[in-house]
Amino acid sequence: MIYSGSAISVQALENGIAELKFDLAGESVNKFNAVTVNELAAATQAIKADSSIKGVVVTSGKGVFIVGADITEFGSLFANGEAGVVEWTAKAASVFSAFEDLTVPSVVAINGIALGGGFEMCLSCDYRVMSTAAKVGLPEVKLGLFPGFGGTVRLSRVIGIDNAVEWIAGGSEKRPDVALKEGAVDAVVAPELVRDAAINLLQQAIAGKLDWKAKKAEKLAPVKLNMMEQMMAFNTSMAVVAGKAGSNYPAPVLAVKTMQKHATMTRDDAMQAEAAGFAKAAVTPQANALIGLFMADQAVKKAAKKHSAKSAKEVKQAAVLGAGIMGGGIAYQSASKGTPIIMKDIRSEALDLGMGEATKLLSGQVAKGRLTADKMGKVLSAIRPTLNYGDFKTVDIVIEAVVENAKVKGAVLSEVEGLVADDCILASNTSTISITHLAKSLKRPQNFVGMHFFNPVHMMPLVEVIRGEQSSDEAVAATVKLAQQMGKTPIVVNDCPGFLVNRVLFPYFGGFDLLVRDGADFQAIDKVMEKFGWPMGPAYLLDVVGIDTGVHAAHVMAEGFPDRMKPDYKSATEIMFDNTRYGQKNGKGFYVYEQDKKGKPKKVVDPTTYELIAPVVAARKEFEADEIIARLMLPLVNEIARCLEEKIVASAAEADMALIMGIGFPPFRGGACRYVDQMGIQNYLALCEKFAHLGKAYEAPALIKTMAANNQKFFG
Ligand SMILES: NC(=O)c1ccc[n+]([C@@H]2O[C@H](COP(=O)([O-])OP(=O)(O)OC[C@H]3O[C@@H](n4cnc5c(N)ncnc54)[C@H](O)[C@@H]3O)[C@@H](O)[C@H]2O)c1
Repeated sequence: MIYSGSAISVQALENGIAELKFDLAGESVNKFNAVTVNELAAATQAIKADSSIKGVVVTSGKGVFIVGADITEFGSLFANGEAGVVEWTAKAASVFSAFEDLTVPSVVAINGIALGGGFEMCLSCDYRVMSTAAKVGLPEVKLGLFPGFGGTVRLSRVIGIDNAVEWIAGGSEKRPDVALKEGAVDAVVAPELVRDAAINLLQQAIAGKLDWKAKKAEKLAPVKLNMMEQMMAFNTSMAVVAGKAGSNYPAPVLAVKTMQKHATMTRDDAMQAEAAGFAKAAVTPQANALIGLFMADQAVKKAAKKHSAKSAKEVKQAAVLGAGIMGGGIAYQSASKGTPIIMKDIRSEALDLGMGEATKLLSGQVAKGRLTADKMGKVLSAIRPTLNYGDFKTVDIVIEAVVENAKVKGAVLSEVEGLVADDCILASNTSTISITHLAKSLKRPQNFVGMHFFNPVHMMPLVEVIRGEQSSDEAVAATVKLAQQMGKTPIVVNDCPGFLVNRVLFPYFGGFDLLVRDGADFQAIDKVMEKFGWPMGPAYLLDVVGIDTGVHAAHVMAEGFPDRMKPDYKSATEIMFDNTRYGQKNGKGFYVYEQDKKGKPKKVVDPTTYELIAPVVAARKEFEADEIIARLMLPLVNEIARCLEEKIVASAAEADMALIMGIGFPPFRGGACRYVDQMGIQNYLALCEKFAHLGKAYEAPALIKTMAANNQKFFG
């Protein structure tokens, strides 16, 4: 053994070949953590010191090659500020350069996923052989970063500026055929051949049949384009990248600027430029938020796993009551992910519509080549539309998705309870009605939970699983399991009106109504909130949700939390409702909707809206963007704090992820809790005090006050 560590070993094979193997002890995957970087430095030294070594083959002892850097280490590393990050990055990158500078050839066998730091390791080798089962790429921009172990330097020199910009600024994973075509790898072979093929290539290099020195030299020199060509390449790509990323995501543009800066430099200077650029990205609030999101996502998955582990029950057959917008979507999603489902309605037209919608979605996938016609047939036959309860005895879980009316839901649930097996789980897709309240109409309330999907079901990743006062662990666990089977991310919350997501969304709408009442233009509010990062402003969102649905839900919320959700004035939203302006669904709401060329609804400003709301709003007044943001965000954030206080949601990580996945909270802000952390708890409290005169929704809840008194953060 030439070198042996906990992440890397170097062993002598035949003919002067050394095998450097990544195999991180105690982990299922390889990742580039600090230990691995240090061991790479030591292993490189050991290879250098052994004059019998004529070439190095780099392999992995796991199913993946290396999944990337260890993101859990970023928080503490980046806390050292920009200068600290430059130092750390330059030092780590020099380890990769030392490996590259070995005076013998190197070939990597990319057996599985090689992303981020993992692919940067591959780029440090002279040749890359890739398995047909592997994927490669530099996805760092998704974390608000870009490659910092020499990836921007080497990839520009290996595949050229245009392609490198696309790989790095786009951050997507690349298939073997694409990687080969663009020159990022030198050969693609079947998975079982990848190590042998790499050794074979290495032997040819050692024998002098391949000019590996020229390959190495290429990466040490400036990019092979003259100044004019470079300028053209960077100028065109910069505009495209900036346009695609948008101003809220600075990392892709920073990456391209860095690549432009170092294109004329030799490797070591270029690496310094990369480290400086990387550090700039690393200390942005966007990187902080996106890295936080990655961690929150892991925490959410872990929590869900813990819940589903408590279930002995397998969900082999599901049923949904109601074939409307939600019921139809639930049936489609369940069937397409492999759980057969019975779809029951009381109207055969509803069943036809539900099946029609599923057929449309599946045909779309077939047309895009993502699904075969055969698979489409199988999915459709896994949805059994029916007008009666015939087969309900064999069903493991029933999801109720009938109209949002407590009485109707109570009657339907109690009816179905009498027809299913004793251990069948009943779940309601209600948006607002308390699960504990609905459970009152049931004989087995322990088997009952909430399972709140979001619209459109096939697109929205979140499912809130709601535990009522009497819901059993088993019922929660089985529902979490089904959500996972359906490819969704379940978050378990405790019961209250609106649960977590709608409970915090309605105070935000309340903030909107109040601001409009006080004379703000709803269009101006939409513009400011869209710039803040929401996919759509609140007026537009209400139109999309449906003004009737919104008003109905707002009444339920007002009943649940009258002190802060019951307005003492007539709102503009209610005026829309009174005038049957229900939003996109009937073509008129705050905006009116016309069909665009593709047949999609396009919003257009309608002067009538202003005439209608005039009697209930103050004279038009300009509000600063900061005030608009505060007046909408504070009620939402305060309500999240109350939900944490009341343990409606277990952690800040789950709360933030629920908002991002459920209502499109701007991901680059990381969620409501991260938003407070980035603003600073004292500043946040001061803002609450400034607007407290507007009502209870603006007053800082106890949790915020305590956190401010102790100078605490939600995260770390
Ligand atoms: N639409 C949304 O954006 C959304 C989002 C999340 C949750 N939800 C909730 O999902 C539920 C359904 O909403 P929707 O938008 O799909 O409504 P919808 O009006 O589109 O569909 C309801 C369906 O239930 C059927 N139905 C009524 N009584 C029935 C019964 N006794 N048995 C079987 N079917 C019956 C109706 O015929 C109709 O097809 C509501 O509780 C709603 O609050 C809706």
